[in-house]
This record gives sequence, C-alpha cells and structure tokens, in this order.
Amino acid sequence: MFDDIRSFFMKREEDRASEIGRPESHFEYLTERTAGAHTIIITIANQKGGCGKTTTAINLSAALAKRGFKVLMLDIDAQSHASLGIGVDVDNLNCSIYDVLVKGMQLENAIFHTYANNLDIAPATSMLSGAQLEIADLLGREGILRTAIYKMINTSKNDYDYVILDCSPSLNLLTVNGLVAADHILIPIQTHYFSLEGMRELFSTIKIVKERLNLGLQILGILPTLYDPRTRMNKDILKQIQDYFKDKVFKNPIRMNIRLAEASAHRKSIFDFAPDSNGAKDYSAFTEEVITLTRPEKAIGQPEKAAKENGSEEPRLQPDTA
Ligand SMILES: Nc1ncnc2c1ncn2[C@@H]1O[C@H](COP(=O)(O)OP(=O)(O)OP(=O)(O)O)[C@@H](O)[C@H]1O
Ligand SMILES: [Mg+2]
Repeated sequence: MFDDIRSFFMKREEDRASEIGRPESHFEYLTERTAGAHTIIITIANQKGGCGKTTTAINLSAALAKRGFKVLMLDIDAQSHASLGIGVDVDNLNCSIYDVLVKGMQLENAIFHTYANNLDIAPATSMLSGAQLEIADLLGREGILRTAIYKMINTSKNDYDYVILDCSPSLNLLTVNGLVAADHILIPIQTHYFSLEGMRELFSTIKIVKERLNLGLQILGILPTLYDPRTRMNKDILKQIQDYFKDKVFKNPIRMNIRLAEASAHRKSIFDFAPDSNGAKDYSAFTEEVITLTRPEKAIGQPEKAAKENGSEEPRLQPDTA
C-alpha cells in the first residue's frame, strides 16, 4: 500500500519533471548520509541584512581550510556576495547552485576550486532570485538542497570535512532549504540596537524546521559581529546578547575592522589580504571555537585567552542551565 502511494507521488513528480525537462534523479527525496560520512554542514543564517553572514562564511571557510580541513562553501544568496568575495567570476559561469536546485544537476558539477587551498565553492548567480518560485510547487521542496548535498557526500571523492552555507537576508524557501540541509545553524548578530529584532521569527522558523523537517538541527552558536569595544553602547549590547543567549554566544566576538570589508572588495579572505589584522585574529579565534564544538579532538586554540585580548566580556566558563 505504502509503495503504491509513494510510487503515485513519485510518478506525479516524474511527469512534472518531464514536462519541464528535468532529470528524474532530482526526485530522489529520501537520500540519507551513509554511515561513516563525516562531513559537518553549517548554515549561516539571519534574516537581518548586513550582520556579517557572508563575511563570516568566507572567513570561517578560509580559516578552516588553512587549518587543513577540506571545505565547500555553498552560496544560496542571489546577491552572490560569498562567490564574489572569494574571487569567482559569477558572470561567466556555465553552472551554479541554481542548476542544482532547479534543474536537478548533481552538486559535484557546480563546484569550483577557489584560489585558496582546500577551499571549494558552489557559487550563486543572480538567476537564483527566481529559484524559489520555480521550486515552490515541488513535493519535498524544502529538502532539495539536503538531498543534493547528501548525494554528493555519499558519492563524491571530494570528501569535505565542512560544508558552509551562506544564506540571504530572508527566511525564504532557499533559507529553509539551508536549515533543512544543516547539522548546525550559526547566527551572526551585529552588536547594534535593534539587532535582536526579528530573532523571535528566526527562532520560531528554526523550531518548526527542527520539529517537522530536520530533527538533527542544532544551534551551533550566536556570533556577535561588527563589535566596537571602544563604545559603551556596543559593550552594553554585547552584554545583553550574552545575558539573553547565555552559553550559546561565542566567546570571541568579531570586532569592527575595516580590513575585513577591504578583503571582500579585493575578493580574498582576510588571511590572504591582511593576515596580521584584528579581523584575521578574531576569525581565527572564533574558528577554533567552532572546531572545539564540532571536532574537539582537532582543537588546538585558546579561545578564552583571545576573548580577553580582544576586549570582550569575561568568557563564560559555566554553561547556564536555567
Ligand atoms: N567585522 C567587520 N568589520 C567591518 N566591516 C565588516 C565587518 N563584517 C562585515 N563587514 C562589512 O559589512 C557589510 C555587511 O557584511 P556582510 O556582507 O558580511 O553581511 P551579510 O549579513 O552577509 O549581508 P546580507 O544580509 O546583505 O547578505 C559588508 O560591506 C562587509 O564588508
Ligand atoms: Mg550576505
């Protein structure tokens, strides 16, 4: 009986696929990761614009790659800032993440090497802005990206340690695809008034995704960004963020550092543009925290020492269990 119902739905989707010329392989919804697959998938999301999602995606990916991990950055924002920021010529691509989501192309075919060792990218182009309408009617639309990533993990020779997804400033279907695909969500928050606005909506989306679509989704942490330790306002807001989110806040906030903005304009990571800058120091220390949380056996840093040096609040050593 179940098989009949399932094949009925599969048939409907195959019919629809052939109408619009998509390959059937696009509709293998139930792909799971094979045992032993060790890739960790982190989605960076916050519907607030300009809070440092892309800067974090690029520099976390680059820092992990420099630490010897094999990293795939996946750009699911039609603005293509992550792709541009790591040097991809988005106007001259023959395939991108759009083709994976809409046309059912294998993810492997949309992956390019970047100039940096160990760091690959599945880039976005402006075509992605139409993608959510094009997939809106598909059965299993929220899980298309997850299926594509899992299939790559199961079959690819690339064997990534980390897949890092950069989302757009919206809670649209593409961001939901990012949450459904993820093991962890990472939330950058600008240390600025009003930055906590919209958090309720983001957390309720995460809760719904966790309940209905991705039971394994975990919040990796909240990353305070664009932090200026010289101003009282920034210090107060950082404290509010720490009081509210408690041990979920990373100990190393990312300070405001013009070199980070310049690095993106030069289409490089901070480690290749200004390796001695505070931006590079902050992203290195934060990356050690990410490694400590996700692969503790590989951690070497002293995140708490760095947190003190960059002027943030005393690190929280005891998780708040209240
Ligand atoms: N720590 C920082 N210091 C100085 N400038 C920064 C810092 N982090 C990000 N920026 C700059 O702030 C702007 C917004 O950052 P970014 O693009 O990373 O945010 P975003 O959340 O990805 O934005 P969007 O919501 O549009 O995708 C960019 O110009 C970036 O270079
Ligand atoms: Mg961005």
